[in-house]
Amino acid sequence: MNHHNPIRVAINGYGVIGKRVASAVLAQRDMSLAGVADIAADWRLRPLEARGIGIYAATPQQVGPMREAGLTIAGTLDDLLGRTDLVVDCTPKRIAAQNVEIYRACGLKFIVHGGEKHEVTGHSFVAEVSFESAVGRTATRVVSCNTTSIVRTLTALKRAGLLKRARGTLLRRATDPWESHLGGIMNTLVPEPDIPSHQGPDAQSVDPELDVVTMAVKVPQTLAHLHYWSVQLTRSASKEEVLDAFRASSRIALIRAGDGLVAINTVKELMSDLGRPHDNLYEVALWEDMLKVDRDELFYAYMVDNQAIVIPDTIDAIRALTGLATKSDDSIAQTNEALGISGKLC
Ligand SMILES: NC(=O)c1ccc[n+]([C@@H]2O[C@H](COP(=O)([O-])OP(=O)(O)OC[C@H]3O[C@@H](n4cnc5c(N)ncnc54)[C@H](O)[C@@H]3O)[C@@H](O)[C@H]2O)c1
Repeated sequence: MNHHNPIRVAINGYGVIGKRVASAVLAQRDMSLAGVADIAADWRLRPLEARGIGIYAATPQQVGPMREAGLTIAGTLDDLLGRTDLVVDCTPKRIAAQNVEIYRACGLKFIVHGGEKHEVTGHSFVAEVSFESAVGRTATRVVSCNTTSIVRTLTALKRAGLLKRARGTLLRRATDPWESHLGGIMNTLVPEPDIPSHQGPDAQSVDPELDVVTMAVKVPQTLAHLHYWSVQLTRSASKEEVLDAFRASSRIALIRAGDGLVAINTVKELMSDLGRPHDNLYEVALWEDMLKVDRDELFYAYMVDNQAIVIPDTIDAIRALTGLATKSDDSIAQTNEALGISGKLC
């Protein structure tokens, strides 16, 4: 592929993930945003007009309603697909699996997200682990927020030769903030009925060697997920060794309760103060001072901004599929620079 011109990226589905991918694509030097397709005819797409980003109706039936709502529609999804090199599908769970047929028929490369099953693309992506095996492929699936965090952290321990097996409990946010008037839970906790919850097996779709079991419970707040982990190490280790293993990943940021970051809302506030778009926390924010090592046992907790953590990996997945980069480190460095990720939050 010729890289003198930026790779043109189309986004289908401009929701929680789609809008963040759009901003992240615009921040890259080697990519351009071809346009955005959706079916929404309300306020949600209007900010795109002010930014000069082309809006396309994802279905022919929606052209009329979207125009009647006052949106300037540049065409349909077919038109958008005709002027792009790759599609990032950010539609809700299970819709992307149907769109895949359209992308294949157009001969386009595409990325789906964690709501879809591994089988939809046959490849599951976390930049630090499966970048190289995605290079030149037609498609990949960027795994879910929780799975991304699990693969990042356990890979860091594995690379340091410390990981034997890991058992985690996930406290999952009830719903996303923008739609919290529609549902979510209040004044209760809802355990996931099955152990393991799906995230452990999903992490194995990226790295089959991981010995990991997860359990999950839905909690009545919308800010982020919180994970508690208990890890059997391969040997006795010091706390410093474990922290160094996590420090080796630019996408894990150590935070300290002793610094006032005592809860997930304070970390979100810091993201806002740093001027991150949408207050995005792209990193796994892991409490350094809470982390405990007892000989060959390790315990720790971290925060996952479900809305943001998969965004850098999505940008890296675009580089892998299109061959803009062939080594994970190169792409990760470029993405990190463009998004202000350094391994430290401030
Ligand atoms: N929300 C999260 O925290 C999160 C985190 C990681 C991964 N994911 C995954 O990302 C994907 C997108 O999730 P989301 O939370 O951004 O969804 P969302 O509901 O916030 O946004 C989906 C968007 O797609 C649009 N849409 C619906 N049907 C469409 C169609 N047929 N064609 C085009 N657009 C259509 C909707 O109008 C909406 O704007 C899912 O696979 C989800 O599992 C979500």
